[in-house]
Amino acid sequence: MDTVRTTLGRTPITIPALGIGTRRWGQRFLRGYGTEDREAELRGAYRAALEAGLTFFDTAEVYGLGHAERLLGRCIVDLPDRPVIATKFHPLLPFRLRKGALLGALRDSLERLRLPAVDLYQLHVPYALTPMDTWLAALAEAVEAGVARAAGVSNFSAMQMVRAHALLEKRGVALASNQVHYSLLHRAPETRGLLDVCRDLGITLIASMPLAQGLLTGKYTPEHPPNGPRGRRYRQRELEAVAPLLEALRRVGDAHGGRTPAQVALNWTIGKGVVPIAGVRTAAQVAENAGALGWRLTAEEEAELDALSRARQWIMRTWW
Ligand SMILES: NC(=O)c1ccc[n+]([C@@H]2O[C@H](COP(=O)([O-])OP(=O)(O)OC[C@H]3O[C@@H](n4cnc5c(N)ncnc54)[C@H](OP(=O)(O)O)[C@@H]3O)[C@@H](O)[C@H]2O)c1
Repeated sequence: MDTVRTTLGRTPITIPALGIGTRRWGQRFLRGYGTEDREAELRGAYRAALEAGLTFFDTAEVYGLGHAERLLGRCIVDLPDRPVIATKFHPLLPFRLRKGALLGALRDSLERLRLPAVDLYQLHVPYALTPMDTWLAALAEAVEAGVARAAGVSNFSAMQMVRAHALLEKRGVALASNQVHYSLLHRAPETRGLLDVCRDLGITLIASMPLAQGLLTGKYTPEHPPNGPRGRRYRQRELEAVAPLLEALRRVGDAHGGRTPAQVALNWTIGKGVVPIAGVRTAAQVAENAGALGWRLTAEEEAELDALSRARQWIMRTWW
């Protein structure tokens, strides 16, 4: 994969090899949620992303129950450049029983995003009260109607993805992507064969949580543990266990002209042929993460990080 830009599956849509995640934009426990200061900070992150060429944003209707989409929409109309926007339909929300619910939800998302069409529309989870085939058919209709440029899924296993790919193909629609949890600390998509199937079928694997919620940036240590929900996930045991991996990320980064652990961790993901969508809150984080692009780890460095990460998969065991 190109270390700067790539295509979204077999669609003609080109995206940077690193995307931006906006889940945090909708989180109510984020300090200053809904205030002008917080919005100014997030708008600054958006502007910095466009300036750095990071023009691929991922969001979802459920992030803050529309709050993240609304905020992103306000950013989109403010600046002339139009990034590639991906959002998601959640089949498990109440009253989602008939096919028409998907187009209705997409119209609501488009209104919040202030867009006539979304670039990538994804089924958020492979679980629903209505058979998944119904939602895949509705997804194909959204593409046929031109309100979504490409179709994607999220959290689908290899088997579920192959089935989705086949169903969409019958309608002449390509399955562009599968967004799943993937990072140095959660390599199940690689070890369980999902990544291989993505490569075979020309489907982009989009990595959610590529920084393990900040843990791979090195900002949390046993002396400075995280607060809030992250503090409940990453206790002393996890923070101590991740230290040798962080040390290797630092050492490898130094050998590449002073790259940071976050940059090396994201670069490792990109080197696997995966598009990480790093969640960001500030312009400074965007600027730092953009330094993951345009260079490559050596084969030895990748092998060392692979080995160190293999023994630490239990750290993220509670995340799906
Ligand atoms: N499809 C799904 O089911 C699913 C599930 C989860 C996530 N996602 C998607 O994946 C995206 C990424 O996941 P995520 O945001 O949960 O986790 P992540 O990308 O692993 O971590 C993001 C967090 O890392 C910190 N961070 C980022 N860059 C940093 C830097 N340079 N220096 C220091 N800290 C930095 C920020 O923490 P602070 O905010 O504390 O500064 C940020 O909130 C989401 O936004 C969402 O779009 C999808």
